[in-house]
Amino acid sequence: MSRVVFLNGEYKDYNNALTHVEDRGYQFADGVYEVFSVKNGKLIDYTGHINRLSRSLNEISIKYPINIRSILFHMRNIIRKNLIVDGLIYLQITRGVAKRDFKFPKNLDSTITIIGNNIPSDEYDKVFEKGINVVTTRDLRWKRVDIKSLNLLAPVLAKQYANESNAQEAWLIDDDGFITEGSSSNAWILIGKTVYTRPVSSSILNGITRKTLIKGLNKHGYNFKEKKFNINDIKKSKEAYITSATQYVMPVVKVNNKKIGDGKVGKFAKIFKEIYLESVQLKS
Ligand code: PDD
Repeated sequence: MSRVVFLNGEYKDYNNALTHVEDRGYQFADGVYEVFSVKNGKLIDYTGHINRLSRSLNEISIKYPINIRSILFHMRNIIRKNLIVDGLIYLQITRGVAKRDFKFPKNLDSTITIIGNNIPSDEYDKVFEKGINVVTTRDLRWKRVDIKSLNLLAPVLAKQYANESNAQEAWLIDDDGFITEGSSSNAWILIGKTVYTRPVSSSILNGITRKTLIKGLNKHGYNFKEKKFNINDIKKSKEAYITSATQYVMPVVKVNNKKIGDGKVGKFAKIFKEIYLESVQLKS
């Protein structure tokens, strides 16, 4: 069976699913998206992602184009039709098609796209075993990155820089020298026995994985603080991590080519990954 995607109410062959040239997503990045992890054919942390999608749509004045139950129905169909066991679902909603004009007409019909990807589960395990390298770079994004918008040029360039620097993620640095987050993940460090991540504000995306991990850390009695950190703090850290829907909890073993701790995946990385997996399994 060939790969199937959902586009504007229809299931289409991947190679023939085409969008209009004047879609505002295409011209202005005028839209929002979500990435859901799929495990054993099930959507992980579904409610958190859907709530954030509603918020993102609301913040940029796009009305929910179809009801939430229909979105869930179509996402599950994409999982089924593409025989996805482990992988991800990409859901994108743009403001729709209109003659190019910065200001937008009200009540456009949004363009809804759902794409599913199969990712073998051992791919994550292989990366986890080694951990990842991170490089830091300036945070050049707009000031509302709490909205999961399609406006991703700055993260694209940051990730490319990481890739060219033999790293898998870029940590972004604000004008005061603090890490905001990764180009597509939240950033964490462990100093002593305390885990730190930046507090939620318009300077970071309020990660669903982040939220679930925090609940798990609290439940299991680990010291946790929402506090900004900088390069000096990273130098003091014993372990570091990123979190995202696709990376779960992923250990960081080097930042700017300098080892974190002994440069190996630490014991807490394994514990926190288990805590996260336990938390989502309860919900899925
Ligand atoms: N990225 N911060 C940024 C800037 C992100 O793009 C993401 C997710 C996260 C983590 O959020 P969550 O835990 O809800 O996935 C944090 C997705 C995976 C992406 O763009 O592919």
